Amino acid sequence: MKIISKLAGCGSYLPQNTVTNDELAKKVDTTDEWIVARTGISQRHFAADDEYTSDLALKAAERALEHAGIDGADIDLIVVGTTTPDRTFPAVAVRIQKEIGCRTGAAFDVQAVCSGFIFAMSVVDSMIKTGQAKNALVIGAETISRIIDWEDRTTCVLFGDGAGAIVIQAEEVDDQMEGEGVLSTHIHSDGKLEELLYCSGGVSTTQTSGYLTMAGKEVFKHAVTNLAAVVGEALEANNLQDSDLDWLVPHQANMRIITSTAKKLKMPMDKVILTVQQHANTSAASIPLALDHGVKTGLIKRGDLILMEAMGGGLTWGAALARW
Ligand code: UT7
Repeated sequence: MKIISKLAGCGSYLPQNTVTNDELAKKVDTTDEWIVARTGISQRHFAADDEYTSDLALKAAERALEHAGIDGADIDLIVVGTTTPDRTFPAVAVRIQKEIGCRTGAAFDVQAVCSGFIFAMSVVDSMIKTGQAKNALVIGAETISRIIDWEDRTTCVLFGDGAGAIVIQAEEVDDQMEGEGVLSTHIHSDGKLEELLYCSGGVSTTQTSGYLTMAGKEVFKHAVTNLAAVVGEALEANNLQDSDLDWLVPHQANMRIITSTAKKLKMPMDKVILTVQQHANTSAASIPLALDHGVKTGLIKRGDLILMEAMGGGLTWGAALARW
């Protein structure tokens, strides 16, 4: 017998306040035409002043638990991908642990910016397969609006807030069974490229949270190259072809980057889950938000093979291949 990481359920949450491109253009020197043409984004959600990353994460987690039909008390591992925690410490994950009534196991955050959900999933998959957890919550949650520099039009139009979660359960299966649950995860970083995308503050430097800073064009080029490489790596590791995939569930940063990855995989755009128009870039929350959208609208069905991929500050990038 062997253990697989089964995707048991998903959930997501978006703050109520939506802001369209035209509304943004009233306070920033930009236009709806520019934002749509360069990114595909039409609107984004922003958290209320008294709504924190853990509040968004909790709502997504509760919905995922309900979808999976599992009680919070049975969860024994919570890993949250976030760059915008409520506090410097403790982790967002421990608040989730308290609120869902989970009293055992471990809860912690991982920090890989927009790739945070893939990195969190990689950790959870490894811990499940090595017998360290049975019922895990993997969450991506962000209030990126808190670190937006409203004086920088090249970045402030790109982001939004939100959260998404998946319940991943250990399942014992026959040794011969292949291709179920999480097939593989692939994560990478290149610290030499730190200056391309970073936040200008921090505990040890300025004692402030700082503002998001990005060399957009450079990041764009690395995204196209690295994502093409990592999706190829995921398929090769599993002896699969492009044509075996049912869905691409990409990080929703920019429609042009998504289109480029889909083209590399020879996937028609109706096999790509797209939420970038409505959600903008929600960093670590974007993949689980897109996955939940795909599942709850009936596009992604049980048994479908899905490829998730992301790239973010660090630089970091990664992919996860799984059967829903
Ligand atoms: O999730 C983490 C990873 N992040 C990403 O993957 C984002 C990667 N980068 C991108 O998505 C794109 O590079 C951007 C959407 C950020 C920018 O698109 P671009 O095609 O690379 O535009 P650009 O930076 O070359 O700017 C083109 C022009 C400039 O004007 P000039 O110098 O040509 O006269 C900018 O000043 O567009 C101008 N511009 C704007 N105009 C209206 C920049 N921002 C805006 C704006 N509204 N908001």
